[in-house]
Amino acid sequence: MPLFKIIFRINLLFSCCITCLLIGFTNRVNCLELLGFNCDKNTYSPNTTNSPYRTNLNFLLSTLSSNASRTNGFYNSTAIGRNNDPSNTIYGLFLCRGDISMDVCADCVDTARGMIIQRCPNQTGAIVWYDLCLLRYSNQYIFSKEDANTGLLLHNTQNVTDDTARFNALLEDLMNNIMNQASNDRSGKKFAVAEANFSTFQRLYTLVQCTPDLSTFDCDSCLSNAVSNLPTCCRNSKGGRVLYPSCNIRYEVYRFYNDSVAPAPGPPPNPPPPPPVPTTSSSKGKDGISERTIIAIVVPVVVSILLFLVALFLIIRRSRKRYDAVEVTDGSQILAPESLQYNFTSIQAATNNFSDDNKVGKGGFGQVYKGTLPNGEEIAVKRLSRGSMQGLEEFKNEIVLVANLQHKNLVRLLGFCIDGEEKLLIYEFVPNNSLDYFLFEPEKQHILDWSRRYKIIEGIARGLLYLHEDSRLKVIHRDLKASNILLDIDMNPKIADFGMARLFGTDQSAATTNIIAGTYGYMAPEYAMRGHFSTKSDVYSFGVLVLEIVTGKKNTSFIESDGTEDLLSYAWKQWRDETPLALLDPIIRDSSVRNEVIQSIHIGLLCVQEDVDQRPNMASVVLMLSSRSVTMPTPNKPAFLASSKTESFPKEVHFDLSTSNSTPASINETSITELYPR
Ligand SMILES: *[C@@H]1O[C@H](CO)[C@@H](O)[C@H](O)[C@H]1NC(C)=O
Ligand SMILES: *[C@@H]1O[C@H](CO)[C@@H](O)[C@H](O)[C@H]1NC(C)=O
Ligand SMILES: *[C@@H]1O[C@H](CO)[C@@H](O)[C@H](O)[C@H]1NC(C)=O
Ligand SMILES: *[C@@H]1O[C@H](CO)[C@@H](O)[C@H](O)[C@H]1NC(C)=O
Repeated sequence: MPLFKIIFRINLLFSCCITCLLIGFTNRVNCLELLGFNCDKNTYSPNTTNSPYRTNLNFLLSTLSSNASRTNGFYNSTAIGRNNDPSNTIYGLFLCRGDISMDVCADCVDTARGMIIQRCPNQTGAIVWYDLCLLRYSNQYIFSKEDANTGLLLHNTQNVTDDTARFNALLEDLMNNIMNQASNDRSGKKFAVAEANFSTFQRLYTLVQCTPDLSTFDCDSCLSNAVSNLPTCCRNSKGGRVLYPSCNIRYEVYRFYNDSVAPAPGPPPNPPPPPPVPTTSSSKGKDGISERTIIAIVVPVVVSILLFLVALFLIIRRSRKRYDAVEVTDGSQILAPESLQYNFTSIQAATNNFSDDNKVGKGGFGQVYKGTLPNGEEIAVKRLSRGSMQGLEEFKNEIVLVANLQHKNLVRLLGFCIDGEEKLLIYEFVPNNSLDYFLFEPEKQHILDWSRRYKIIEGIARGLLYLHEDSRLKVIHRDLKASNILLDIDMNPKIADFGMARLFGTDQSAATTNIIAGTYGYMAPEYAMRGHFSTKSDVYSFGVLVLEIVTGKKNTSFIESDGTEDLLSYAWKQWRDETPLALLDPIIRDSSVRNEVIQSIHIGLLCVQEDVDQRPNMASVVLMLSSRSVTMPTPNKPAFLASSKTESFPKEVHFDLSTSNSTPASINETSITELYPR
């Protein structure tokens, strides 16, 4: 899949206005606003108007266009090259916003076709985004797969002025809700909108949509990706949009979609009723009033109405659509280091000069303080212990990379601050403490009932999958554990402390290696013994975490009455004895769902297998969690670390960021239903 480099954005304010005035107000057709387009930089040769490729492309585009008035807002088509020449085959699709009628959709697609032919006539691929539709073609197969490699981030230039924290929380809430709704939308639209009151005077409106050819999983992944870009593009903006080829999201403080679809996604709205037929008054002219009089009256009235409408339209437009393109995401860096730099005095002020009262924790890399910025935004500040670190420039570069890792299940790095000896990392503040605080405290355990625990397992899996495979960098966490999972206000998990190895450079000084070496009990044996690290060692840590979440017991301080002294041996024993439910934390027995519990234990055991190759990758784990019917292999005996408790960490750790084995373990496959013991 080619990575597009440049997206052109054009603001056709005036031409749009006039079309809108002429069509829009009379016909209740929405104004078609061109948001941006992107022509693949590779063209087809020969570059002539009647080359087979061009002919084929024209044919494809007219097929799409002519189907727009007959389909439910989405259509894909393939134009096979003449004589079945595969090199001339072109794939194309369009997607109309879920709330608009077929007529409007057809209008938009037709306009988009003209635009794409004019701007990208001979490319290997192109996409054009209007506010109501997108049109795309490519010589690569583009159906049924997520594409978020290129995109357009737009934000309203007006800011939310007060209570931004609550605004952002409400936005995130709404987005998360409709994201689930849209990706699970089986009606064939994968579209959802929602709205909520923000204040007495303001209401927040949100919309998400995927191309319906995506799977639930891909749609969710694309939307998560888009939502995680909101802070980048649209922090505190009154409106924002993220547009990818496979999905798009938008929010505003005014209603920008049709009433009839809110609040839940429903069947496609009926086409707008035809404009009221004006009662003809021309017949009256024959009854005595001269044509001149009519012209003398009608023309000035019509002209002034038109002028009024133009003025009104401009005013509405001004207040609503002051949009700026922020950035194009195309595989290059999104954020510049400057935008991430915080001023030391402001952080000092935010944290009460790093007072003990603001201390919220201590990680392997330094103290963590809670702070509040002047605008009310809460932050967590990690004051790095002054250890060895790479050069300043490399440090900044790595920060930019890590700050661009954005996912709803990752704690967001907002920026950094370097002032002499002081090195600070600024994170979003996650209010609800870490997972171990709830999981291992007898008085708190009951707060995490089974459905919350299961959601936490799913969330961690998704965050980790993003780090391993979906982000532009491949990131291995290396120190995944309960205390590195933070919980937000709704108990959604967010992984903390990822990317630290990058920030501390890959130079293997002994001190650095010790800091990064991970945590006993969570480390995969091949890492602990031989220092070999890969995504599969994170999978191991994930497995331990899952078993801890199910049992409510710490792997490291585990002593069972029958003498087994670590959680993994105990879990394996119960599994083998076909009594897996005995593992379940008794405090949540009543709220538990038997199948989910067993499935979680099963996945946990698959992840902690001794043989690295037999452990599933995170993509398989997420798939197993999201589908009841997927076949899971039988777990083999886990790796036991019990005997190596005293073994010291290796001197040298190989940072193997490139290793990823994407083939899931496939031996001994048994179907779930046969396998689960009673
Ligand atoms: C292709 O041909 C058109 C019309 O002759 C021209 O405007 C355009 O620049 C050409 N493109 C390339 C990449 O040569
Ligand atoms: C439309 O896309 C589906 C995959 O989602 C594909 O199987 C089908 O062949 C496509 N239809 C056309 C006409 O290209
Ligand atoms: C909105 O906020 C951004 C920074 O958060 C600032 O650069 C911009 O000027 C503000 N816009 C308005 C209209 O106040
Ligand atoms: C939202 O605000 C509107 C008007 O201010 C009001 O009619 C409505 O009841 C409010 N809805 C909720 C859920 O508070």
